[in-house]
Amino acid sequence: MAFDVGKVRAAYPALADGYAYLDGAAGTQLPSSVIDAIAGAQAAGLGNTGGAFPASRRSEVITDECRKALADLTGGVPGGVILGPNMTTLTYRLARTLAAAWGPGDEVVVTRLDHDANVRPWVQAAAAAGATVRWADVQLPEGDLPAAAFARLISERTRLVAVTAASNLIGTRPDVSAITALARSAGALSYVDGVHATPHGPVDVRALGADFYVTSAYKWSGPHVGTVVADPALLESLAPDKLAPAPDSGPDRFEQGTLPFADLAGVTAAVEHLASLAGPAPGSATRRERILSSMAAAEAYEQALFGVLLGGLDAMGHVTTYGKAARRTATAFFTVEGSTPRQVAEHLARRDVNVWDGDNYAWELAGVLGLRDAGGGVRAGLVHYNDRSDVDRLLAAVAELG
Ligand SMILES: Cc1ncc(COP(=O)(O)O)c(C=O)c1O
Repeated sequence: MAFDVGKVRAAYPALADGYAYLDGAAGTQLPSSVIDAIAGAQAAGLGNTGGAFPASRRSEVITDECRKALADLTGGVPGGVILGPNMTTLTYRLARTLAAAWGPGDEVVVTRLDHDANVRPWVQAAAAAGATVRWADVQLPEGDLPAAAFARLISERTRLVAVTAASNLIGTRPDVSAITALARSAGALSYVDGVHATPHGPVDVRALGADFYVTSAYKWSGPHVGTVVADPALLESLAPDKLAPAPDSGPDRFEQGTLPFADLAGVTAAVEHLASLAGPAPGSATRRERILSSMAAAEAYEQALFGVLLGGLDAMGHVTTYGKAARRTATAFFTVEGSTPRQVAEHLARRDVNVWDGDNYAWELAGVLGLRDAGGGVRAGLVHYNDRSDVDRLLAAVAELG
């Protein structure tokens, strides 16, 4: 089905303010359907779960529906969907839980491509357990993270491999299924950061081979809710910190307290929104099928627009772009000669163009690129609601700095 960006944009009230929102990699805007779902849930009356009255039951239904929606989005099963405030918090929880079984002699593999939220929790948990950390390095200038490098790092001592499905700085999409296969054959678990990858294409946790797949709804048109998707049997084998009266089985053992029920209704609406971007009509296919088709169309649309963005930046003598991986999301990272990244972002803001400057918490990668002490770089990321005019305005404004 063709991708109708005009129709997509009309769904987002915030886009009417005239700004070019090229900051989506840090958080997207919300379509009306998501805003309405959140407000509607609040207006209907909510109660805490486990009560004897209808408002409590409504929160239970919302929570169940949210797990089903996230399972459809990722290819997981609802019983393996842990809900929480964001990826970082959930990753710290999982790191603490998993590291309880680690000790001296055990090893953990992390990468220099990842956002720090998929690095530091594991490094700190390993340090507390006396385990060793091994680092997978980024290959320059491509910005690749070859699976072959993991073969040298993974052994029977490896307990966990933490790797991103896409870099939030330069977009690189490593060969995750090859990396998780290496982990599995050594008896290690894999923890895949899908925060940056999920908004940019179809996700299949089984094909990725991810024991844990984590994503945050605010990166794909939803509210601030994070989720970890895993095999329910694997979750049952773990013993997270939990309160005595909290459930003894199921994903809610990992959820630590009351969930934001209205926001969960917004997450389900965001998944529906993704399914409706360009997929078959509801009723003519399952939601999972609609999501896969829709996200494939969104990816093709973004990649075509990304060609224009990158081509325009690379044609400017005063601009340096970073990363040339064969598989990457539509995320441009660049510096401009004679201006700091913050000065570039300020100049663009004066032209009503939103971009991020800095390291975007890809702390190790910013170091590898030699940009950590130079204020990082400028990130202009495309999501499915960006259009040609957003890109043209960015390019025109960057050209003014030459
Ligand atoms: C790739 C990636 N991983 C992890 C995170 C952290 O996510 P959260 O804000 O949900 O903790 C981000 C946020 O920017 C990200 O881009």
